[in-house]
Amino acid sequence: MTFKKPMKRKYMQGTTPIEALKRTSEILGGPALYIKRDDLSLLAGGGNKSRKLEYLVADALRKGAKTLVTCGAYQSNHARLTLAAAKREGLKCHLVLSDPTGHGRADEKASGNLFLDRLMGADKIILKPKDTDLFHALDEEVADCAAEGLEPYAITLGGSSILGCLGYVDCALEIAAHEISSKEEFDYIVVPVGSGGTIAGLIAGLRESGSRAKVLGMNVLMKKVTQEPRIWKLVQEIADVYQVGRGATQEDVQCFDDGLGPGYALPTDEMVEAVRLLAEKEGILLDPTYTGKAFAGLISLIRSGFFKPEDKVLFIHTGGSPALFEHQEWFVGDKK
Ligand SMILES: Cc1ncc(COP(=O)(O)O)c(C=O)c1O
Repeated sequence: MTFKKPMKRKYMQGTTPIEALKRTSEILGGPALYIKRDDLSLLAGGGNKSRKLEYLVADALRKGAKTLVTCGAYQSNHARLTLAAAKREGLKCHLVLSDPTGHGRADEKASGNLFLDRLMGADKIILKPKDTDLFHALDEEVADCAAEGLEPYAITLGGSSILGCLGYVDCALEIAAHEISSKEEFDYIVVPVGSGGTIAGLIAGLRESGSRAKVLGMNVLMKKVTQEPRIWKLVQEIADVYQVGRGATQEDVQCFDDGLGPGYALPTDEMVEAVRLLAEKEGILLDPTYTGKAFAGLISLIRSGFFKPEDKVLFIHTGGSPALFEHQEWFVGDKK
């Protein structure tokens, strides 16, 4: 490893486990499936943003910030984890949240992540309507905080700045170390793609490590045509700024729309099938917006014959299960 990593806080308890999904592999046929449990982290409720926040919050503290300000959907896992990190560090936290579906709940009955944001005592939650430009709304809130002397630190949507992406360079290096110590190589790594920082960091880290695993991104927010160029730009910026993953090429960025359905955070039968499958057969909780849809995309690729039977496929569990509670009605009742 040639690159010098910035300082980080500790929001992960060492490396996250990699487990075989034996029953699920048998049921689906095709490749051997494994799961990396990035849903298990030290911040409340766990999930992938914890790795990004290790770097982002360290930077905020180094710069003397007193208030973390970020944005996302009403049911944002990233907002919940940013708030949890703020609480751990004794910082204030302001959340700018919008409702991408147009029928999200925000009253006192709201459950899932928004309930947890309120339980943890966010210093300010600003609720914005559907179609709000969250980047602009975040800038406005940061400017207001600065004017009030709250010494804000802005964390962009999903924590997907170049610095935040380093969290997933770390994850890739863990996977590569696992491949060496277990003498078992993965052919593919499957990951949900929202703001794109998770997949960009993974690609950079894997190409840096020499692992030959290919990364397959499962879109849950934007389509392939928009997402792939964005991710490639992020990968190049990581290489430029941190000299990591310089061997990555545009062909390393591969995204699929198979699990996306009608749009971000909107349910699909395939997502419900995937969430139920992992819950019932493995005792693992996926989520409706990210990992459920990404696993549904993986199932679709398996059924289409994309993989060889001898392939080894590692699914990254990026967390998100609190959102299940906000959408219980999608999972109860008649089995499809
Ligand atoms: C549970 C979960 N998985 C995956 C993602 C997607 O990660 P990224 O935004 O880095 O693409 C998110 C983003 O919010 C998330 O909350």
